[in-house]
Amino acid sequence: MREALFSLYFLFCTVNFFVDAVSVARKPQTIKKWTIQMVGYAPMKNDDYVAVSMEAPTGYIVGYEPLADADRVHHMLLYGCTRPYAESGFWRGESTCGGGGAHILYAWARNAPNLELPKGVGFAIGDSSGESGIKYLVLQVHYAAPFAGNVRDYSGVTLKVAAEEPPNLAAVYLLFSRLPIPPGQPAFQNNMSCTYPSRTVLHPFAFRTHTHKMGRLVSAFYKRNGQWTMVGKRNPQWPQLFEDISRPLEIHQGDFIAGSCRFDSSDTTKVTPMGSMGSNEMCNFYMMVYYKASDENPFPYGAYCSQQSEPHSFDDYPKEGTELLPPRPELEHHAHQSTVPFGVIEEAKFSSIGNVPLGQVSGLSFDPSHNLVIFHRGKRAWNQNTFNGANELNDKTPIDDDVILISKMEGKNASLVARTGKGLFYLPHGIFVDSDNSIYTTDVGSHTVAKWKLNADSSLSRVWEAGTPLTPGSGSTHFCKPTGVVVKGGSIFVSDGYCNDRVVELTLEGKYRSEFKGTGGFRIPHDIVSNGETHNLFVADRENGRVHELRSDGSEVSIFTSGLFNNIYSVDTNKDNVFMIPGEFRATQFGGEELPLAVFVGRSGTGLTQFAFAPTSGPFSRPHIVRVCPHGDHVYVGDITEASPLIWKFKIQHEGSNHETDGGTVSFLSSLSLPYTPHVSSGYSFLVFFLFIAFLLGSAVWAKKKLSSSSPQSTFSRTGFKPLRMEDNLGVSSDESDLD
Ligand SMILES: *[C@@H]1O[C@H](CO)[C@@H](O)[C@H](O)[C@H]1NC(C)=O
Ligand SMILES: *[C@@H]1O[C@H](CO)[C@@H](O)[C@H](O)[C@H]1NC(C)=O
Repeated sequence: MREALFSLYFLFCTVNFFVDAVSVARKPQTIKKWTIQMVGYAPMKNDDYVAVSMEAPTGYIVGYEPLADADRVHHMLLYGCTRPYAESGFWRGESTCGGGGAHILYAWARNAPNLELPKGVGFAIGDSSGESGIKYLVLQVHYAAPFAGNVRDYSGVTLKVAAEEPPNLAAVYLLFSRLPIPPGQPAFQNNMSCTYPSRTVLHPFAFRTHTHKMGRLVSAFYKRNGQWTMVGKRNPQWPQLFEDISRPLEIHQGDFIAGSCRFDSSDTTKVTPMGSMGSNEMCNFYMMVYYKASDENPFPYGAYCSQQSEPHSFDDYPKEGTELLPPRPELEHHAHQSTVPFGVIEEAKFSSIGNVPLGQVSGLSFDPSHNLVIFHRGKRAWNQNTFNGANELNDKTPIDDDVILISKMEGKNASLVARTGKGLFYLPHGIFVDSDNSIYTTDVGSHTVAKWKLNADSSLSRVWEAGTPLTPGSGSTHFCKPTGVVVKGGSIFVSDGYCNDRVVELTLEGKYRSEFKGTGGFRIPHDIVSNGETHNLFVADRENGRVHELRSDGSEVSIFTSGLFNNIYSVDTNKDNVFMIPGEFRATQFGGEELPLAVFVGRSGTGLTQFAFAPTSGPFSRPHIVRVCPHGDHVYVGDITEASPLIWKFKIQHEGSNHETDGGTVSFLSSLSLPYTPHVSSGYSFLVFFLFIAFLLGSAVWAKKKLSSSSPQSTFSRTGFKPLRMEDNLGVSSDESDLD
């Protein structure tokens, strides 16, 4: 039931655009970033298509930063629409625009990287778009298959939008074919062509090709005075990025534009129709062009060309347009579409290790042998009677349990390797193990940070202790309930913590070096980790509900905030993934509903959430700590529920995680949702256009039924998704926030 609620919640209540506008001063242009993201969707079937829309900001798109991974997403297409298909802001099915103009602004598949438009070129949107009327942006996302486990996706794209009109405007001109592919043909060629009708001169500057698994080459040319000029050609099995065209090209009125797709259907026994499903094929050439902003808009309703407009027009199509390119294994590998469904699977949960029952699990780390090192509170729990009003412990006796457990984790098994720490700790909080197997701890009860050596007999020797034992305070000689500790390079960083709201840098000998307080100030910095690759620090700024990504001098790289959570207890990173976990339910602004607890996974450097996952056996209760194993494929969450403390173990499943050899076959491949108002270029394509409208009407009715039967109301609202601050009711001394 909780799961069902979780799904419903994500489906219908987080219709949500993290429209986070970050101003980046860049002379002479002012660039703002806008992100359109999926709503926490969990695909329900193979080839699941969904879309989100948002009102287009006014300005000029000059770059795209995709937030997606081919593990989860097959493709994304961004449309500029006069109207979205549905007012709700989110819908299932292949519909995109709701009538009027439909302009393709961007396409992503197969791990294509960021795209910057050339200097002086932009896509006009919002009030800047004139007769194109791009009032809405619609992001279509195609998922190849359902996820494994309880996973929600937030893939999207960040738009870099300039305020000033550039000298040139951009458009995407799409050539596509709808002719089916006969079986058993090693080199079947599909053609499309149009005569360019407008007086406005086009300058193609980038192109992208798209087919499914049978495509081998897609090319396009234009012909003027009997002379063919290539626009581009590319193997569609490579990352489907927009490839730059370095030669200056011009398409003039009356030029004959032609494209061709070469397919290998030798493995098939039936005709393969064109269509969006993985078992269908597609033949698309996207030509990104610019034209002078002062010229007439050549494509007020969208820029499309399909089919072959004249017989024999392809008889002299250049040979190089159909000759295969040499193989590029590194590209084919990078673009490889996953055959293992992406997922995060709950593998096990533990309430004891060996026969040692777990107390409140406050900290986790990994030793050099990749054992899980657990810091728990034994029989002690943090409650209202733990501290007096001056942050001093009432009970000044150490815990009479082994609060450090070292556990070998194998599949669903956890076996005790060592146990230690009896009589040394008052109220465990954070733990970190370095590459020499030295252990660093923070103790919120004793207000100290310590370094320990683990002896062969499993006893601990204290190397040093920073802070003044059992005495809270600030300055360079005291901590006050310090929470987390990490060693990074020649320094130790401590999040300090419940009263000082600072990060303290210590020398490797545990001496105070400096401190910083974060942009806008921390409110209970509750966890701190460092990323092995970027060397950035990540601080869980608990009560502000955000994560700071920082350089070691404390300067900000990015800040993760989201309408999805309003507190963050713990953070960990692996490569460019940032794992963040809230510690408690709090009433949120989502229609008064509470957000189920989940691990949110952001991308380093962006401040944005990519996906989230939650357990399948029951919800998190009071998660306190999240750690990703050094291989990056398992995630552990420690829970401090007093009645039943737990460690959860999750496995991140994707193709790479299984270390399987790449078969090279692409099982789920797709597509372009059909353009709503294709540019009618010939009599034949009029028929296609007509069929296509009929198809659209059919699917629209289907989608509408689907929506009205399950979606209770329109939840499209942007105001609801500002990051929560809750300034008014979160004092550091408030009981609830002090207890863990
Ligand atoms: C496409 O054009 C080529 C000539 O370049 C021709 O051989 C081929 O049959 C055409 N394809 C179709 C499907 O008409
Ligand atoms: C887990 O423990 C069981 C029972 O002791 C054993 O049969 C199994 O092989 C173990 N699994 C792993 C992955 O170690």
